[in-house]
Amino acid sequence: MKGIVFTEFLELVEDKFGLEMVDSIIANSNLESNGVYTAVGTYSFSEMLQLLQNLSDNTGISIDNLLLVYAEHFFGVIEDSYPGLLATYKDAIEMLSSIENHIHVEVKKIYPDAELPKFEVVEKTDKSLTMIYKSSRAMHHFGLGLMNKTFEHFNQTATIVLEKIKDDGTEVKFIINKN
Ligand code: HEM
Repeated sequence: MKGIVFTEFLELVEDKFGLEMVDSIIANSNLESNGVYTAVGTYSFSEMLQLLQNLSDNTGISIDNLLLVYAEHFFGVIEDSYPGLLATYKDAIEMLSSIENHIHVEVKKIYPDAELPKFEVVEKTDKSLTMIYKSSRAMHHFGLGLMNKTFEHFNQTATIVLEKIKDDGTEVKFIINKN
């Protein structure tokens, strides 16, 4: 997992819960990195899982909800860092249906070691999109947060329903309907 995902996460934790919370979740994890991350480095996904689990234990907020809020913050990072990529699109459905064959393809060029999910488009109309998310990391709520912000970015709104295909969340159907 790319370092930017860790550095932005710890910054948000500090903003919302304070530096002591950052120190606590790092101290309670077993981290090869010792909790020292650079934006361009690459670290084990298990480090992110431990940090999320400890934050969830300390706050009582579920990992899914933490990932949702984190993704909404991360979309701002994307807007600041990759304005050109977003400017290619005029519509949220167009953008979301292009994650697999355009957006994450470009991400892979920038970070060849990025660990990205698969999004398979099952059905697409002007107003609706059904996609299957597949990833061993089960970060579907990170996807949901990014989708919410994608609609906001285009001044659009949508109703998004998640249906787990696998109980462990490694395969999830997203049913998206523009309002
Ligand atoms: C992961 C970039 C749009 C879904 C990531 C990562 C980066 C990235 C850098 C982390 C990879 C790693 O840590 O190795 C971008 C950029 C985007 C974009 C630059 C737009 C210009 C989206 C959108 C979605 C999405 C719109 C909506 C569903 C995900 C998910 C992950 C991810 C779910 C977590 C990894 C996983 O589930 O396996 N993306 N992304 N991305 N991205 Fe994107």
